[in-house]
Amino acid sequence: MSSTAEGSARGRVDVEQVTFGYHRDAVVRDVSFRAPPGGFVGIIGPNGSGKSTVIKLISGLMAPWSGHIALDGTDVASLSRREIGRRVAVVPQETDMPFPFTVLEMVLFGRTPHLGGFAFEQERDLQVARSALERTGTLALADRPVTELSGGERQRVALARALAQEPAILLLDEPSAFLDIRHAVEMYDLLRALRDEGVTIVSTLHDLNLAALYCEHIVLLSEGTVYQQGAPSAVITYEHLTAVYETEIYVSMNEITNTLNVLPLDGRSRATLRSPASESSPSRET
Ligand SMILES: Nc1ncnc2c1ncn2[C@@H]1O[C@H](COP(=O)(O)OP(=O)(O)O)[C@@H](O)[C@H]1O
Ligand SMILES: [Mg+2]
Repeated sequence: MSSTAEGSARGRVDVEQVTFGYHRDAVVRDVSFRAPPGGFVGIIGPNGSGKSTVIKLISGLMAPWSGHIALDGTDVASLSRREIGRRVAVVPQETDMPFPFTVLEMVLFGRTPHLGGFAFEQERDLQVARSALERTGTLALADRPVTELSGGERQRVALARALAQEPAILLLDEPSAFLDIRHAVEMYDLLRALRDEGVTIVSTLHDLNLAALYCEHIVLLSEGTVYQQGAPSAVITYEHLTAVYETEIYVSMNEITNTLNVLPLDGRSRATLRSPASESSPSRET
């Protein structure tokens, strides 16, 4: 993709002391982190901790009550939707596709921010859309109505549409939620390849193993605030996860990937841990 090459110098995201709420109470408080161009940032945290809200704020859907969000140093609030659409593509948690457009038509919508006022798609737009279908393994679905897709297929089409936008920054909200283990890994392998091409990736993940495996920087949210952030090995620890998720979690090193593995402990194992007989806790490996 040509614009990702020029995108290697673009794609910086700065979130500075952002506070926001939907009603009277703030659900995101004083959140700060940054993604350098070509960075891979993961946002993790329990349900309701504010992950989706942070993604929506970066995409300019809502404006922070206080604090700033900048894309390449420009405040999102000062950019038009179209200007944002040329830099940022979003793969939302669930993609509503209520109209029976074909998959190809849906992916071509991703070109909208690049089209002139009344211009129709050109040959190059079709090429970009096709390449996006190929990379997401959805080319065979090109002529299918999107209304007939499975949740996992819809999610890959949503990623294809985002790629057709040729963004410098890709925001994803739990993109692998509907994917089986193979398609989840394929999606994150693709995201990593895009990162290598200079695209900045900011993704929320509920799968902590995928977060440990793919992200360079992890932001752990707890009740709307940043509990910890840093390298996966510094954030994904027994102490942090057990405190934030409020359940015992077993963290160990995977010798093949050299990244951390995270397992929840079932009630029976938690009871064993708590009994005075258990000397060394296996969950404290890291
Ligand atoms: N559209 C909305 N209107 C009102 N409250 C919302 C809305 N979306 C999310 N919230 C609330 O904001 C908080 C954070 O939600 P969210 O960002 O979706 O968390 P997460 O993605 O981590 O599960 C939750 O308490 C949630 O109920
Ligand atoms: Mg969410």
